[in-house]
Amino acid sequence: MKTTGTFKKMKHDNEKITMMTAYDAPSARLVEEAGVEMILVGDSLGMVVLGYDSTIPVTVEDMLHHTKAVRRGAPNTFIVTDMPFLSYHGDFQHTLLAASSLMQEGGAHALKLEGADEVIETVAKLTKAGVPIIGHLGLTPQSVGVLGGYKVQGKEAEEAKKLINDALKLEEAGAVAIVVECVPQNVGKLLAETCKIPIIGIGAGIDTDGQVLVYHDVIGYGAGHVPKFVKTYTNVSVSIKGAIESYVKEVKDKSFPSQKESFTMSEAELDMLYG
Ligand code: KIV
Ligand code: NA
Repeated sequence: MKTTGTFKKMKHDNEKITMMTAYDAPSARLVEEAGVEMILVGDSLGMVVLGYDSTIPVTVEDMLHHTKAVRRGAPNTFIVTDMPFLSYHGDFQHTLLAASSLMQEGGAHALKLEGADEVIETVAKLTKAGVPIIGHLGLTPQSVGVLGGYKVQGKEAEEAKKLINDALKLEEAGAVAIVVECVPQNVGKLLAETCKIPIIGIGAGIDTDGQVLVYHDVIGYGAGHVPKFVKTYTNVSVSIKGAIESYVKEVKDKSFPSQKESFTMSEAELDMLYG
């Protein structure tokens, strides 16, 4: 299995890192089999799996439940779990409890949390406690209410400078990588050039050290809004719906189940049954 050391080496060797989300055992199995190097149990779970319209309602218990399933489905892949909304902003004891449950019970290898500023000290403390932390900068969906919507971040020089400073602070605090979401390509490039730790981009252009996308977006599964930075490689919703429609039709017109899907009794047993 790849480790945080492997990912740093990959950056050094200019080998792109692949990361993708998964939320349950079958999705994790496919993501592992397809060769993705880092699985993110993202709190996007709230939107793509649980049907909420943001990541805000997602709890530590939700993340734990899904991390366990992902770990069972992908036992040989490095798993990162998102610490959900407000699970790392209170007193540190509370943060430690959440971190311990996601790693010790859930089986995550690293935890991801959003933002900088007051979060930096938490990153340093968790790192000292032995928890590998991945930062998340740029568009940070847990702050959508403060940011005022899902918008490109770091478009202005001042904002971009703060992003770079924040990344350096996270690195100094011990973060092992940083996810950067929805920033101009040249800001993604600058971040990757400035930091020694891997910068994993989503909507951050081609020059970051790796890329991350959401499982449902990659395969076209679900009905949600798909942002510009997503590439949908197939549309499984169409084939899933087609299959279900065929099932409904065949039950109605009595062509399912056929002999092929049915069990039979021997003639002798039948005679006894009907006497
Ligand atoms: O929750 C998530 O899926 C994420 C990715 C978009 C990076 O944080
Ligand atoms: Na997330």
